[in-house]
Amino acid sequence: MIGVLITFEGPDGGGKTTQLGLLAEHLRGRGCTVLCTREPGGTALGDKIRGLLLDPANREMAARTEALLYMAARAQHVAEVIAPALARGEVVLSDRFADSTLVYQGAARQLTRGELAAINAFATGGVAPDLTILLDGDAGMLGGRLAGRGGADRIEREADAFHASVRQGFRELAAAEPERVKPVAAGGTVAEVQAAVVRIVEEFLHRRTYG
Ligand SMILES: Nc1ncnc2c1ncn2[C@@H]1O[C@H](COP(=O)(O)OP(=O)(O)OP(=O)(O)O)[C@@H](O)[C@H]1O
Ligand SMILES: [Mg+2]
Repeated sequence: MIGVLITFEGPDGGGKTTQLGLLAEHLRGRGCTVLCTREPGGTALGDKIRGLLLDPANREMAARTEALLYMAARAQHVAEVIAPALARGEVVLSDRFADSTLVYQGAARQLTRGELAAINAFATGGVAPDLTILLDGDAGMLGGRLAGRGGADRIEREADAFHASVRQGFRELAAAEPERVKPVAAGGTVAEVQAAVVRIVEEFLHRRTYG
């Protein structure tokens, strides 16, 4: 049995967490065994690393330190959670995964994609998403949503140029891997976005089952 790894990616506030939960319900309703997880985190050790990454007190964190912390959390996440679930034949939904590191640390922190891809391959042992939903929307709209939620963390307080660079990085990713990375406009209602996500996932599962 080989499971499926579906990841949700995109800028802060795009609706990843909301849509992941709705997709999990949908897939369970059609009989799939679904495991929901997130990055950074997903394990007890990963959550401790997440605390370090998001703490506004860690302002002096070097770009390479940040990248390695994300990779360390991912190595644990894959070993402890994702790989075993895939081996059991489950559908794994991850709220962010490797693409976030490549985009945030690559596009916005000036580390090379090649370096990041190499440490990522080491961290994951080659486990990669089968399908990635990219929730994309403009900074004004997404910022408004997050403002409504309150309490910006260290990453969310970065400058506008950083957010623009992140958004651009995600778009380049979708252009580079159109088979895997499927952009969805995040600006619709929750139900509209969900319908688009379900359509993409159903199409993917159909192709995977029937070729
Ligand atoms: N389609 C939508 N229309 C309006 N508001 C939405 C929509 N989807 C999500 N929201 C709201 O916008 C906020 C951000 O959504 P959510 O937390 O799902 O995004 P996220 O991509 O997981 O964000 P983060 O990157 O910060 O984790 C939440 O308050 C959520 O209720
Ligand atoms: Mg979220």
